[in-house]
Amino acid sequence: MIALRLHPDKQSAAQALARETADLIGLRSESGKPTVLGLATGSTPLPLYAELIRLHREERLSFRTVITFNLDEYEGLGPAHPQSYRRFMEEHLFRHLDIPSGNIRFPDGLAKDPAQECAAYEAAIRAAGGIDLQILGIGRTGHIGFNEPPSAVESRTRRVRLDEVTRRDNAVFFDEPTAVPHRALTMGVATILEARRVELLAFGAAKADIVARAVRETPSADCPATWLQRHPACTFHLDAASASKL
Ligand code: PGA
Repeated sequence: MIALRLHPDKQSAAQALARETADLIGLRSESGKPTVLGLATGSTPLPLYAELIRLHREERLSFRTVITFNLDEYEGLGPAHPQSYRRFMEEHLFRHLDIPSGNIRFPDGLAKDPAQECAAYEAAIRAAGGIDLQILGIGRTGHIGFNEPPSAVESRTRRVRLDEVTRRDNAVFFDEPTAVPHRALTMGVATILEARRVELLAFGAAKADIVARAVRETPSADCPATWLQRHPACTFHLDAASASKL
């Protein structure tokens, strides 16, 4: 069952979700526990990250007890590469916070043995106690993370080929469209479904069709976001435009 939450605009959604994230971090750190966040890249979560930075700067929200696992990384791009997701997160979030660098985890896009790297990533998530709160975007193909169709509900962190629609959509971040990698390492659908809470963000008319499919279609590998219907605590944060086809 997917809960739908309609916000006046993406800024309001960012404020609401940043506040909930801050509350979770506060509650867990009071009882001496770390907070494990699953994080996403793309344009959609940027207002959320800006709001978390504001809470850190203006309201002294500390990230010292936070551990993060990002959903995915392009194959072949190292942490210093300008288009790597590691670098994206550094610029838009991590370098503005007091999170210890050792608490920031990514699949290694340069791993010599991707299968072993992916197994190690799964093990690291488990060793951290599992993900408390997973932030997600949704691609026009229905992907969550880089789980392109078809992605099975049992899928785990693995090496994947990117859909051409996704490569075109993500080309805006690259100097030229051909520079977008063809492959990536991504958490699997099963990995995402194990998070205790899932908060998916989708705004604007371009996401209306895929949001309607994700919410309404019978869950299947053809639209990986439909698997979220099986999650016990998943909320879609929408605006009027992205919710217009529901
Ligand atoms: P976007 O990407 O936030 O740039 O729209 C979302 C996604 O592909 O998951």
